[in-house]
Amino acid sequence: MKIASIKLKNYRNYSDLSISLSSGLNVLVGDNAQGKTNLAEAIFLCAIGKSMRTNRDRDLILWDKEFARVDLSVENKGRKNISIYLFPNKNKSIKINGIPILKMGELLGNFNAVYFSPDELKLIKDSPDERRRFMDIDLSQFDRNYFYALSRYNKILSERNKLLKTVTSEADLHRTLPIWNEQLAKTGAYIVYSRLKFIDKLKDFAAREHDIISKGKETLKLSYTGVVGQSVDEITSKLLLRLEESTAKDIELRYTTTGPHRDDIKITLNDIDVRYYGSQGQQRSTALSLKLAELEIFRAELGTYPVLILDDVLSELDEERKHALLDRIQNIQTILTCTHFEYDVPCTKYLVNAGKITKTTN
Ligand SMILES: Nc1ncnc2c1ncn2[C@@H]1O[C@H](COP(=O)(O)OP(=O)(O)OP(=O)(O)O)[C@@H](O)[C@H]1O
Ligand SMILES: [Mg+2]
Repeated sequence: MKIASIKLKNYRNYSDLSISLSSGLNVLVGDNAQGKTNLAEAIFLCAIGKSMRTNRDRDLILWDKEFARVDLSVENKGRKNISIYLFPNKNKSIKINGIPILKMGELLGNFNAVYFSPDELKLIKDSPDERRRFMDIDLSQFDRNYFYALSRYNKILSERNKLLKTVTSEADLHRTLPIWNEQLAKTGAYIVYSRLKFIDKLKDFAAREHDIISKGKETLKLSYTGVVGQSVDEITSKLLLRLEESTAKDIELRYTTTGPHRDDIKITLNDIDVRYYGSQGQQRSTALSLKLAELEIFRAELGTYPVLILDDVLSELDEERKHALLDRIQNIQTILTCTHFEYDVPCTKYLVNAGKITKTTN
């Protein structure tokens, strides 16, 4: 999968941009606050339909403008044009090859990308939300049914939580909750089952990547924490049982305390939990191993590498790891942003300056 070109109209600090990208390494060099991350954001927006920095479309529109537009031309067994129109006060609209899509899910899978920035350290260090988001973003890109199941699950969950917050009679709750439990367990089981398959593949890829990065010194292991099972049916029954067991607790605390919305990925290095006990460097390398594993899992699922976006990550790595990374990504179309670039690797360089991008001749 490759991006051929991208056009931005009124997107963040770009009033008008049109550039074509090379199929290899594209290096965007520029000082701080020139628009490097803004471009990376616009590209990733076309993969998942939302920004990785904000939930408000308004933030993405050049100040005082009425709309913004992103056009991405992608090559993947033929050409695909993705157009996203953003408005300050209404929902975005998306066209694929000129045809409007009716549901957000229809965007997913048309263009796949993996995004990596120093911020991704939160994937290792922060609360389980971040690790669930990681799984959800990837799984939604592979499987639209996952995306729809997740939206449905969140809707049912918020209904169940609303009930727990507003209904004061325990008898009423005991009567109504089982209906929601059943729906939650059924939808949740597909989510858990997909995540288990995902982690099962990811763990092998990640272990291999980490073995290379750490020169065989560290063994990376991943496991899913939550209800597990061999089939959707088995997981459904287990989730239902858990929901029933925790009903009293849920009523007391007034929210749903168990289910895939509470699950996590446990990440260990030499059997030590990296989230709590890993050094800064170990956490960083683990994030990198997961991102590289993500590329491989995409390739395994889709038969082609996704586009890789490396936003400002070089400055965070030591020399050896920088070279290893640049070496590793040779066959993958990459958009790399940085403030300086002095590596002798084949690449196309661009200068980013105040919302304008020009190709430079090294
Ligand atoms: N909606 C908007 N309209 C106009 N300008 C915006 C908007 N949103 C953000 N900006 C501006 O875009 C500029 C560039 O932001 P960006 O995050 O892309 O910088 P960068 O090149 O990645 O810098 P750094 O090297 O510091 O990461 C910022 O100065 C910011 O004020
Ligand atoms: Mg930036």
